[in-house]
Amino acid sequence: MCGIVGYIGNRESQPILLEGLKKLEYRGYDSAGIAVFTEEGLEVTKTVGRLANLENRLSGDPLRGTVGIGHTRWATHGKPSDVNSHPHTDNSLKFSVVHNGIIENYLDLKEELMLAGHRFLSETDTEVISHLIAVEYDGDIVKAVQRAVKKMRGAFALGVLTEHEPDRLVAVRFASPLIIGIGEGEKFIASDIPAILEHTRDIYILNDGEMAVLTRDAVELMTIEGNFIAKEVFHVDWDIMTAEKGGFDHFMLKEIHEQPKAYHDTMLGRISEDGRSVVLPELKISAEKLRGINRVHIVACGTAYHAGLVGKSIIENLVRIPVETDVASEYRYRSPIITPDTLVIVVSQSGETADTLAALREAQRNGAHVLAITNVVGSSVAREADDVIITLAGPEIAVASTKAYSSQLIAFYLFGLYWAQTNGTQDEATVANILAAMQALPEQVEKILAQAEVIKGVAESISKHDSLFFIGRGLDYAVAMEGSLKLKEISYIHSEAYPAGELKHGTLALIEEGIPVIALITQEGLYEKTLSNIKEVKARGADVLGIINEGHEAEVAKSTDRQFAIPRTLPLLTPALSVVPLQLLSYYASLALGHDVDKPRNLAKSVTVE
Ligand code: M6R
Repeated sequence: MCGIVGYIGNRESQPILLEGLKKLEYRGYDSAGIAVFTEEGLEVTKTVGRLANLENRLSGDPLRGTVGIGHTRWATHGKPSDVNSHPHTDNSLKFSVVHNGIIENYLDLKEELMLAGHRFLSETDTEVISHLIAVEYDGDIVKAVQRAVKKMRGAFALGVLTEHEPDRLVAVRFASPLIIGIGEGEKFIASDIPAILEHTRDIYILNDGEMAVLTRDAVELMTIEGNFIAKEVFHVDWDIMTAEKGGFDHFMLKEIHEQPKAYHDTMLGRISEDGRSVVLPELKISAEKLRGINRVHIVACGTAYHAGLVGKSIIENLVRIPVETDVASEYRYRSPIITPDTLVIVVSQSGETADTLAALREAQRNGAHVLAITNVVGSSVAREADDVIITLAGPEIAVASTKAYSSQLIAFYLFGLYWAQTNGTQDEATVANILAAMQALPEQVEKILAQAEVIKGVAESISKHDSLFFIGRGLDYAVAMEGSLKLKEISYIHSEAYPAGELKHGTLALIEEGIPVIALITQEGLYEKTLSNIKEVKARGADVLGIINEGHEAEVAKSTDRQFAIPRTLPLLTPALSVVPLQLLSYYASLALGHDVDKPRNLAKSVTVE
């Protein structure tokens, strides 16, 4: 995820672009840059690091001009660096592009361009776009962009300028957000409304496959095929704070709702076109080394650790190699048995968690190969690990992790399948079947989100209790642990997650009249057994909410007080769905209790102390 902004008007563009980028920093903040038409031509200033670095650089040497584009980056291809920052230009320096998204076929395009003599400076996919547009240019920037876009596969929102036509700014949207702001004698582009709200409340929202050509006085809207279209102007009547949260009341709710996109983006380009295999070109570990691995340790903290618990089942199930999971703060003090044939997988949203980083270093000291699953390119964990799989969840602002967790699950599914292919432990049909089910997940999450009101009702009744239980077996137990942590973290209600079959060995003594029990019952093979455990708590007066599979309503109704059904998927994939109602449950419970949902007491987003 990145943020893009653009301006064409009669005012100095630099301050407008920088202010806009500040409002988009939530979309990424590892580097930033702007391109402006100055008296000298199209000039670019860009730098790695926070926006403040760019501001410092520009304060001594401002870019003066009334047309410009800007970008704040969340690295996907190529580490955060000056040269990888946007805007990118072609070799003639006459074309400049800002981009949000991923060009899946950029390597093929780059190779073709290099054979034709183009020189590339960065490791990004975006630089290819500026070169492609330059190649296609024959006097009309709009046609050049249309022809270039036809060659690209993936997701993109683009802002394009060319020195040849300094009075036009071209914007394109394909699977990444982009809006157009309409002012008097000035026009804007932006990834999100807050970036331009200070200047105008009248906008066009581009849909996928649409583009806009902006001049100071007009906006032409068309499809990327060049057919003109008409659109209604959308008048924004939210305040700026609401706008930053995309219309949601809290970042946590926004991030819960971003999960379908996070799933989609994390899978993008990692499943072969025929849908039958996983491709992870970013992995350096050789097939031979992977085949020689005989032990796996998954190490992480908090929610990331809970993703690791699901990761254990995925790898053991698909690859049949024993996996141990460890909380990172415990790992290095227990003298773990690590050999060169051990793969240590560290999981961290931020990539900066001190305990996880310490575990990574301990593993490397002992000769293990370390694979990191992280959301932040260029983070300490990403830089120090031997291999990295980036989750493309976009920046997570709320302290309670939601979309990062679920994207980590997607990363585990992809890696587990990739490893199974490499070791030959699953046949092609099985892999294809799982991949097809994975690709249905984003839509299935949307279905769950559409029923948020049901969960809200349950959350309000739960918020009146001091204590409750989450129970489940197998993968359901792993998800129960995450549900329990989420609830504690933001609602401050005490809860415990228990393996459903273990209750009778002690904890059942705590079950009394009216105590809420959230029971997950999604694992086909364990269905009967879990139902018996639910009957045990029901018999002692518990008030049971069942998280069940669609189609099981009638049967489970006999043993539960309320039910929430998730769409049908493969048993291995249910955590990617069943966690969503639990996230909503904790969100609405916290809301009902009047807590600061996004910034719960005593906690921080990134824990960089041991
Ligand atoms: O950035 P990390 O994923 O390494 O953070 C690990 C935990 O601190 C984090 O998941 C924490 O448990 C969350 N606040 C839970 O929502």
